[in-house]
Amino acid sequence: MLIDKYDRVIDYIRVSVTQRCNFRCQYCMPEKPFEWTPKEELLSYEEIFKFLKVAIDEGIKKIRITGGEPLVRDDLYKLIEKISSYKDDIDIALTTNGYLLSSQIKKLKEAGLKRVNISIDSLNEDTFSYLTKKRLLSKVKDGIEAALEQNIEVKLNTVVIKGINDDEILDLYEYSKKRGIQIRFIEYMQNKWANEKLKTLSGKNILEQIAKKYPIEELEMKKSSAAKLYKDNTGFIFGIIEPYDDSFCSTCNRIRLSAQGDLIPCLYYEDSINIKESLDSDEKLLNTLNEVIENRPEKNLWNHNSTDMENISSREFYYTGG
Ligand code: GTP
Ligand code: 5AD
Ligand code: SF4
Repeated sequence: MLIDKYDRVIDYIRVSVTQRCNFRCQYCMPEKPFEWTPKEELLSYEEIFKFLKVAIDEGIKKIRITGGEPLVRDDLYKLIEKISSYKDDIDIALTTNGYLLSSQIKKLKEAGLKRVNISIDSLNEDTFSYLTKKRLLSKVKDGIEAALEQNIEVKLNTVVIKGINDDEILDLYEYSKKRGIQIRFIEYMQNKWANEKLKTLSGKNILEQIAKKYPIEELEMKKSSAAKLYKDNTGFIFGIIEPYDDSFCSTCNRIRLSAQGDLIPCLYYEDSINIKESLDSDEKLLNTLNEVIENRPEKNLWNHNSTDMENISSREFYYTGG
């Protein structure tokens, strides 16, 4: 079992398979020109799988594939197939922008994908295009319907930006409710590279908007979940993710692997160790895994009052996969 020095059991890995993306969400990608890590520096599926086998043997139960946009990497189903044929009860999930989902979902499900979280920030074509820099809302909606048709568990993620999509909170809520999908509204995280034009709307504020229409109650939180869950008087369950709140850190169960092999102990923490040097033996991989888990900070340093800016990560979201 993987346990850190604060007695937290690590059983969840978020694996980014690429930094690339077919969208350019303003809250995720910097405005200034930047370069992707060259493809040849990325881990191959064989290398990712080699590491994951060691991690699974040590007790990892949940693997979430992220990006960038994971579906832009060729043949993603092959990685999922490898994982599910190694151990069939791993909870294999995907976080995607949905654009390529309708064409790939059948194959992904057959390969063993169990759940998918899809980002949708607006139901208005102009706002959607403004935020993502792509006029592709209808493809994302197709992706959502296709995933539902495949009977795969779907959740929606909406990053709420003050003055841009905060007038659509209830529309998105109704859209999810109609389909019986859980939606999670996410506070926009501003960090070292933040886009100054975008402003965070607090989770409290988001909740107030919903509570004006529906009586809601807070549900007891699944301990290791980043989202606080609520239920309205019709039984519909939705979530709020407040990244600045560190209340979930004490039960945080996850580490992250970047597409180029950096094993990251905490979303907010600058330090990481690359696994490439350890790929020639399972023993070295296990040592690296243990070392990273040993380095896990007690809690999120990334809040507005932090005095420890030095150690706060400046990684972009497209690099860590959220
Ligand atoms: P579930 O398995 O469905 O609970 O997925 P998830 O919420 O772990 O994953 P998803 O990729 O959908 O992430 C949704 C949001 O939660 C993103 O904005 C993430 O950045 C945020 N999130 C994920 N992990 C962490 C974390 O360790 N800390 C914090 N504060 N936020 C996180
Ligand atoms: N703040 C909050 N959430 C973000 N995401 C990407 N960038 C940010 C940010 N700056 C979200 C995406 C996706 C998830 C993986 O992370 O919308 O749903
Ligand atoms: Fe791409 Fe997701 Fe980042 Fe948007 S948030 S640019 S869809 S990786």
